[in-house]
Amino acid sequence: MTKIYRLSPSILSADFSRLGDQIHILEDAGTPWLHIDVMDGQFVPPVSFGDVVIRSIRPVTKMFLDVHLMVTEPDRFVDDYAKAGADMFTVHAEACRHLDRTLQHIHESGMKAGVSLNPATPLSVLDYVLDKVDMVLVMTVNPGYGGQKYLPSMTAKIRDLRRKLKEAGYPDLPIEVDGGINLSTIDTVLDAGASVIVAGSAVFRGDIAKNAADLMERIREKEIDGNGAAGEEI
Ligand code: DX5
Ligand code: ZN
Repeated sequence: MTKIYRLSPSILSADFSRLGDQIHILEDAGTPWLHIDVMDGQFVPPVSFGDVVIRSIRPVTKMFLDVHLMVTEPDRFVDDYAKAGADMFTVHAEACRHLDRTLQHIHESGMKAGVSLNPATPLSVLDYVLDKVDMVLVMTVNPGYGGQKYLPSMTAKIRDLRRKLKEAGYPDLPIEVDGGINLSTIDTVLDAGASVIVAGSAVFRGDIAKNAADLMERIREKEIDGNGAAGEEI
């Protein structure tokens, strides 16, 4: 497995009256992933949207649908999201009573399984489930809102996680970072070991195609520096 490098624009910052058009702009710009933030008003204060939106998006794009569940007990939604066409189902470790069982359920449904950690959650929660994890999402802001500032203390966490993954025998497991990533912070997270980059406001504020192209260019530079090969599909 080679390390995969991806930009995953978060539609939380999209103009929902023009969602289909904006997704096509990203697809035309060559963006391979789309980050979809689901919020339930409980795990995080806001409510965003659910599987009906994914059901509408799925037929209009080939992009990899990277769904981030900021909901309590996401296990309840696994089957509906698989049916809706989600590719990656990322749950918060803090929101799952039985994380190991939920990860098995996600795989049984045919989706990839991601685990997300809030900024204050230690990496040790991953210790006994790594064999069931396709991606780790390190929150670089406290979840719930777009447009927040990157938490600088998360740089060490990303670095520690990449080291931990190497030691555990998963050196290329994707590390996704989410929150406050823009042209000023992207190099820091890539250098620390992140490989999947979520960006909401940095993509959707202004010229979407240009913003995505600029961020992807930075990723491509690191990819070439990092291992000299383009990543394959997850
Ligand atoms: C925050 C969400 C993010 C958010 C990122 O809780 O999980 O995906 O959209 O937004 P930016 O990139 O603006 O920080
Ligand atoms: Zn997110």
